[in-house]
Amino acid sequence: EEKKGLKDFSSFPIGGAVEIRQVLQDTALEAIIFENFTSITATSDMKMYAIAPEEGNYKWDRADSLVAFSQRNDLRLFGHTLVWHSGTPRWVFQKGTEDSLWLGDFLKTYIQDYVGRYKGKVAAWDVVNEGFDTQGGEYRKTLWYNKLGKEYIANAFRYAHEADPEADLFYNDFNLERDTAKLNGVLKMIEELKADDVPITGLGVQMHLRMDIPDSLIRESVRKMAATGLKIHFSELDIIFNTHDDTRGGGEQLYSSVTPKMLEQQAQKYEMVAKIYREEVPVSQQFGITFWDFTDRDTWINPFFDLKDWPTIYDEKLEPKPAYFGFRKGLSE
Ligand code: G3I
Repeated sequence: EEKKGLKDFSSFPIGGAVEIRQVLQDTALEAIIFENFTSITATSDMKMYAIAPEEGNYKWDRADSLVAFSQRNDLRLFGHTLVWHSGTPRWVFQKGTEDSLWLGDFLKTYIQDYVGRYKGKVAAWDVVNEGFDTQGGEYRKTLWYNKLGKEYIANAFRYAHEADPEADLFYNDFNLERDTAKLNGVLKMIEELKADDVPITGLGVQMHLRMDIPDSLIRESVRKMAATGLKIHFSELDIIFNTHDDTRGGGEQLYSSVTPKMLEQQAQKYEMVAKIYREEVPVSQQFGITFWDFTDRDTWINPFFDLKDWPTIYDEKLEPKPAYFGFRKGLSE
């Protein structure tokens, strides 16, 4: 059979982040998914604010629709994400701030109801997302941490495992490839969770990269991640040219336009990411690589950091960029 999309060049799953309402009305986007991906993750549709927008009522429509889409098209569905400070709806924040006992009960019921509903249909979950400080190696002092202590993490994994013993369960975070202190903090947590028999099976590394993050640093970090023995998911890959300040959120526009030379350098970086994954993660731990938005038209980067950037593998017109071909090369050569 003719090799065509990224998936045909890869020995592990390749995925993309999607918004189900957009996919269902954009056949060009759908075509890119079918051609290249064997896995999908929801950018927003499966977050707590989408599933539990108000007290006493779950809203399943978009998640149901995603599950149906993934099953219909034989795509692995990755569940993102059960517990995340930024995904926590306001009402949970308000009620949980006043009542820790309620918050602990809610965490349990929410995870049981949600993971149980899609048992066997969601292959894996980001159980906890971004539980560490932006920089350094300390637990992030979120509502969940402040009210329930660090045990909220172990408990979330246990509830998810009870609800679907077959699902892979991930801890997911960003900057682990560049912030050694943060990586060490997360690795220490993983050791503790494993020592306590907490059912964690995967580490999600977001990989929101910048062109100036050294390949050697990325490689060294990925080697340490793989040494945990957990499945490794590059869960939100993109590569920006401009800078942004993680702590303040603002972006700095260094380049006003993108040149062929820059696109070629980006292609080499994408190639290197695929190579590092293949070379540093043992085959049995290769859970896959997921792109977080895969067109420069749709990238979250530009609105989020108020920037103009070109971080993905398809351009604004949905044509494959040099990055696409660089990544493809890294998958197989
Ligand atoms: O769907 C509504 C739409 O109806 C409304 O008109 C519009 C107006 O603001 O908002 C739309 O919702 C937006 C949603 O994305 C869907 O596009 C939200 O405002 C917006 O906050 C939300 O942003 C998402 C963000 O997480 C917060 O949940 C981004 O798309 C998504 O890319 C981003 O993803 C995160 C990962 O979950 C965790 N790691 C970092 C990554 C990037 O920030």
